[in-house]
Amino acid sequence: MSNTPAATPQYDYGVVKQFSVMTVVWGIVGMAVGVFIAAQLAFPALNFDLPWLTYSRLRPLHTNAVIFAFGGCALMATSFYVVQRTCQTGLFAPGLAKFVFWGWQLVIVLAAVTLPLGISSAKEYAELEWPIDILIAVVWVAYAVVFFGTITKRTTSHIYVANWFYGAFIITVALLHIVNSMAIPVTLTKSYSVYAGAMDAMIQWWYGHNAVGFFLTAGFLGMMYYFVPKQAGRPVYSYRLSIVHFWALISIYMWAGPHHLHYTALPDWAQSIGMVFSLVLLAPSWGGMINGIMTLSGAWEKLRDDPVIRFLIVALSFYGMSTFEGPMMSIKTVNALSHYTDWTIGHVHSGALGWVAMISIGSIYALIPWLYGKKEMHNVGLVNTHFWLATIGTVLYIASMWVAGISQGLMWRAVNDDGTLTYTFVEALKATYPYYVVRMIGGLVFLSGMFLMAYNVFKTMNSPAASGNTAAQPA
Ligand code: HEM
Ligand code: HEM
Repeated sequence: MSNTPAATPQYDYGVVKQFSVMTVVWGIVGMAVGVFIAAQLAFPALNFDLPWLTYSRLRPLHTNAVIFAFGGCALMATSFYVVQRTCQTGLFAPGLAKFVFWGWQLVIVLAAVTLPLGISSAKEYAELEWPIDILIAVVWVAYAVVFFGTITKRTTSHIYVANWFYGAFIITVALLHIVNSMAIPVTLTKSYSVYAGAMDAMIQWWYGHNAVGFFLTAGFLGMMYYFVPKQAGRPVYSYRLSIVHFWALISIYMWAGPHHLHYTALPDWAQSIGMVFSLVLLAPSWGGMINGIMTLSGAWEKLRDDPVIRFLIVALSFYGMSTFEGPMMSIKTVNALSHYTDWTIGHVHSGALGWVAMISIGSIYALIPWLYGKKEMHNVGLVNTHFWLATIGTVLYIASMWVAGISQGLMWRAVNDDGTLTYTFVEALKATYPYYVVRMIGGLVFLSGMFLMAYNVFKTMNSPAASGNTAAQPA
């Protein structure tokens, strides 16, 4: 994976440990809010008539907590680890890395306070108001300086492919965040977007879709390219494929955003471009999935004994599934059925739970023993139990949302011979009810696995054989 260095470099694991622990903490918080809003959709009385507890305010809290707090901490933990190990050097500006950790936690806490208070810019996945947006930009630039600074001072001759994915994620998210958040402040807690009308919608979904492509995909592919080969003890199946699908992925993702705006005021040609680029996106996405899964070829038996590998490989399978489903949903006639329905929510969570959460959980399970100088997790049996809870929870969630979504789509469009609607909206809503209960149960099952993880991580960190800052992982 990299050239042998002259002397063992001094790695900086403090910040990696902090981000790893917070991944588990924010995972529990974000998913608990997810379960609560899932319960509110099934039992609306749970809104309790309290403004700060309403679904409308907690939903963005959920999305921000799981994407930016849970996913963000997982990405920062692993990128700071991977960039050091593959560049065979310590972090550039370790003091700045500490600032990245505390700055990011401050952003998360500010989000957790302002969103329930109803302070929101109302832009999906970018709801935070302008002072927090500025803080995010500052922390993100510091993150970029530490990451790219470390690459610059590497002692290896080449830059391992995982860093390409992390690097693309870091640069693109900075660009997306700054352009999409351009606003005119009115007060400390209120601003108006500088964009208007269809243009505002296009910028929002250029941001939104690339947040999926770069935050929820490219960064996690970086994670995959390090942890799958390491845990499997095998080289990447095809290094050439990894480079080809990297360039294809980042150049195609940028154009697919309009598929979120089918049949809207956006010009028709822009919608068609979004659809075509989404269809093409299947190829580089599957390039990554195949490369990851095939890395295990010759070592398939590891799937039987190693629950960490199971997390990683099942994550890749869900990645393949959601990146097949996404292009299908981008076809305008399919989108006419799926849009506004719970099918979209099912698609989101096959990516979010199946891919993002599973690859993060698997990677953190691999990382914790390395960071704390242990041979393996405190209780490997519990990791296995967690794997099954996560898999069953994900399947319950997405299967119920598929059935709910397709039922809704078909019921909304059904017409009688005389042209009147066959079903009222409320009839479709009633038909959805049982699936909302199943989704809530699926979420609870997934969340219960996260509690097992917290216990297991805590026990591993604190078991007597702890050997300070030395990683058990060979260079
Ligand atoms: C226990 C696990 C989870 C549960 C129970 C859950 C539940 C929910 C619910 C009920 C919604 C609102 C659906 C609606 O508006 O109809 C939602 C939305 C969302 N969740 Fe989750 N969620 C979970 C985990 C996650 C994770 C781990 C991620 C990301 C990594 C995630 C990302 C999202 C996103 C992006 C949306 C917005 C979807 C959209 O606007 O189309 N969720 N979630
Ligand atoms: C080739 C890859 C993919 C394509 C072409 C794609 C396409 C789509 C399409 C067509 C929609 C529905 C838009 C609508 O009707 O409003 C959608 C929604 C969404 N997808 Fe994907 N998808 C892909 C992969 C993924 C992955 C891997 C994830 C998550 C990790 C993901 C997360 C989302 C989210 C969060 C939304 C909901 C956005 C919203 O309305 O709030 N997608 N995607």
